[in-house]
Amino acid sequence: MSRRPGNPARRFGDGGSVGGLFSSKSRTSPLLPSGLVALGLFCVIYYISSGSGSGGTKSFMRLVEGDYACTLEVQRAIPSLKKAYGDSMHKVLHVGPDTCSVVSMLLKEEETEAWGIEPYDIEDADGKCKGLVRKGVVRVADIKFPLPYRAKSFSLVIVSDALDYLSPRYLNKTLPDLARVSSDGIVLFAGYPGQQKSKGAEQSKFGRPAKMRSSSWWKRYFVQTSLEENEAVSKKFEQAAGKNSFKPSCQMFHLNSYQ
Ligand SMILES: *[C@@H]1O[C@H](CO)[C@@H](O)[C@H](O)[C@H]1NC(C)=O
Repeated sequence: MSRRPGNPARRFGDGGSVGGLFSSKSRTSPLLPSGLVALGLFCVIYYISSGSGSGGTKSFMRLVEGDYACTLEVQRAIPSLKKAYGDSMHKVLHVGPDTCSVVSMLLKEEETEAWGIEPYDIEDADGKCKGLVRKGVVRVADIKFPLPYRAKSFSLVIVSDALDYLSPRYLNKTLPDLARVSSDGIVLFAGYPGQQKSKGAEQSKFGRPAKMRSSSWWKRYFVQTSLEENEAVSKKFEQAAGKNSFKPSCQMFHLNSYQ
């Protein structure tokens, strides 16, 4: 019993005062039982609040790294994508979390205009990102609903870390919609099944845990939804990636837009 209050205290640093309070009370106070109960309660509450607090922060950090993994890949892939797609990179829409970083990077490329759809909230966005939102370059939109763009508004659509969160029911609407707003293709970045997130990611702020699908699942899915992979561009991309020593750690698919 006497060890119990010590454990959370030791675990979360600042233990001296709790231990000290406990021992002095137990020696002097005539109201030992109620004092003990109060102290026990205090410790339980302290344990719960600090426990869930630090645990929550930690799993949030993991969540952020894991959930943006493929978006980071997009940034690394840009030079190779430019080589593979050439002129088709002149009007690009990126869809995915942290789209501001991708859009900012694309805007630095010559002859490339870029827009972004951020599917989640951007409360923690920096000033530069908020500026892009104010200018309408980046929009916050739920991708379960039709995108607010006319057919073939963009030459290329790049999507990362977004479709993994959609159930097949919504995927059936969203992926064809990406094909609708693009004219020269879609580049899809998806996690590998092995990249399943930690348990903390179950309570994802994205509402639904990511479901990482295998390459064969995606390929079957493309056939079902009448989307074709662009073999020629896939080959060009692989060659360019090889030269740039870029090895994607996410699955990448190059799809044709609807004709
Ligand atoms: C999604 O679309 C495919 C192909 O049209 C269809 O076979 C499948 O049943 C659909 N899934 C859902 C959940 O609507």
